[in-house]
Amino acid sequence: MEQVLPPDVVVDEHRGDPVPATLFPEEELAVARAVPSRRTEYAAVRTCARAALTRLGPGPVAVPSAPDRAPIWPPGVVGSMTHCDGFRAAAVAHADAWTGIGIDAEVLEPLPPEVLSLVMSSAEQAAISELDPVICADRIVFSAKESVYKVWSPITNAWLGFEHVEVRIGPGTFTARLLVRGLGTDLLHGRWAVGDGLVVTAVALARP
Ligand SMILES: CC(C)(COP(=O)(O)OP(=O)(O)OC[C@H]1O[C@@H](n2cnc3c(N)ncnc32)[C@H](O)[C@@H]1OP(=O)(O)O)[C@@H](O)C(=O)NCCC(=O)NCCS
Repeated sequence: MEQVLPPDVVVDEHRGDPVPATLFPEEELAVARAVPSRRTEYAAVRTCARAALTRLGPGPVAVPSAPDRAPIWPPGVVGSMTHCDGFRAAAVAHADAWTGIGIDAEVLEPLPPEVLSLVMSSAEQAAISELDPVICADRIVFSAKESVYKVWSPITNAWLGFEHVEVRIGPGTFTARLLVRGLGTDLLHGRWAVGDGLVVTAVALARP
């Protein structure tokens, strides 16, 4: 994940099975009725968040969830978390330098054909049809949109559909054109990387 984020964004990640971890009482609320596997993943990614927050400065504090599930970072911090099968990561940065951070990790496999047209416009599908299928560009576009959403949502508190963002991927980079207003910019730049059967994407929106 580090290679897709600027150097002053602090990242912590963990591979393998999630390790059980303790939650703060305010975090417990989010998973009070969750199945055990969800609770374990929720806690495990917070172990990453606490490690990253310790290196950034605030220390191993609670990261509860807003009603829309967005993480509530301590004052002066922006960040993002992701988990997928066998991997979890958190990224945090100082809010005086960064307006928002979005990260996403996905198992690198093609999207199910039935969701392709929900996630990507025909122009996006045409753009990736030129690329080697082995890179699973459709999954990279999906992950890029999830990262964009994680930047967009905490700033705007508004919905953003897959059809509201046009993603174009280049070598290790992507651009995301927002077709709706709310962020103060209509163009986001992100990065992606693949390895160990995963794709990771990230968007870091610098403070103007
Ligand atoms: C929220 C969402 C992006 C999560 O993505 P995901 O691939 O399912 O799951 P990930 O493991 O990568 O991310 C989950 C984490 O994202 C974070 N998250 C959840 N909602 C969020 C929000 N509204 N804003 C920012 N971060 C959010 C949380 O930290 C969550 O983990 P936690 O509940 O354990 O704390 C996705 O479930 C979703 O609701 N998408 C909405 C529609 C969308 O993606 N639109 C794309 C527009 S281009």
